Amino acid sequence: MTAKTIVVGNFKGGVGKTKIATMLSFVSAKLKDKRTLLIDLDPQANATQNLAKTGNISHIKYTITNALILRDKTITECITPIMENLDLIACDTSFTQFPKFLYKNYKTEKEQSSVLANAINKLKENYDYIFIDVPPTISDFSDNAMVASDYSLIAFQTQEESLEGVQKYIAYQNFLAEKNKINIQVAGIIACLLKADSQIDNEVMNEAKEIYKDYVLKTVVTYQERLKRYSRTGIELKETVYGNYDQWDFKACNVFFNILSEMESNIEYFEKKAV
Ligand SMILES: Nc1ncnc2c1ncn2[C@@H]1O[C@H](COP(=O)(O)OP(=O)(O)OP(=O)(O)O)[C@@H](O)[C@H]1O
Ligand SMILES: [Mg+2]
Repeated sequence: MTAKTIVVGNFKGGVGKTKIATMLSFVSAKLKDKRTLLIDLDPQANATQNLAKTGNISHIKYTITNALILRDKTITECITPIMENLDLIACDTSFTQFPKFLYKNYKTEKEQSSVLANAINKLKENYDYIFIDVPPTISDFSDNAMVASDYSLIAFQTQEESLEGVQKYIAYQNFLAEKNKINIQVAGIIACLLKADSQIDNEVMNEAKEIYKDYVLKTVVTYQERLKRYSRTGIELKETVYGNYDQWDFKACNVFFNILSEMESNIEYFEKKAV
């Protein structure tokens, strides 16, 4: 088993990156039966809080700061098990010190952006998928996530954003890949609608499909109260007394099941082509 590592990105805030990263991790573990790790690289720690609630975990012992900055624990010791098939490497505000630490301890930019990649190399044997959640800025956090990843998923909001954000993201990814001599490919571009009253902007969607073709996933993340609620309660997929899934949980999780399936078929296609 060698994990495929996937960063969920966009250099814009509040477009749904963390929602996608946490939901894909949950669904991959629960419904696809894949060994899954989520690495939270955002000191806001929204993904950490969400998965901790999902696993009813009240106290997280070690975070990524221990492995990458303090160096008092191995990366494996910083893993928090969430549920069957799902692990978390948590983050907290102490990780804001990461850039300072990098500049002090590594001379070249290449060394500075490869710290996460080197640290997680060994972990890849234990997982099918590693998802990385990042803050919404071009930063040492996002550079480290990109260099550590095989693929990216790009979240964008059809209502709020033109395609410039996506273009900027891909251009930066290509620049960084070239600079660091790494391979990272886009595995999907995901349209998100995060407001209850918003509608998909067909013009933006058509333009996206024209430019990015099959990279634009057919599955759109729509606004769902249940998805909003999961931020507060943690992710759930409750079963009813009749043995079915609760319909609202199922609807919410099914979106991400479909995204995962589309992403998997894109990845399969790239990997066949590469042979
Ligand atoms: N499909 C959805 N339906 C309802 N609410 C959603 C949906 N996706 C995200 N949200 C809510 O929208 C807000 C922003 O989403 P999220 O935190 O995933 O964005 P982000 O891109 O990670 O933000 P940041 O750039 O700050 O990291 C959150 O409050 C989240 O609960
Ligand atoms: Mg986020």
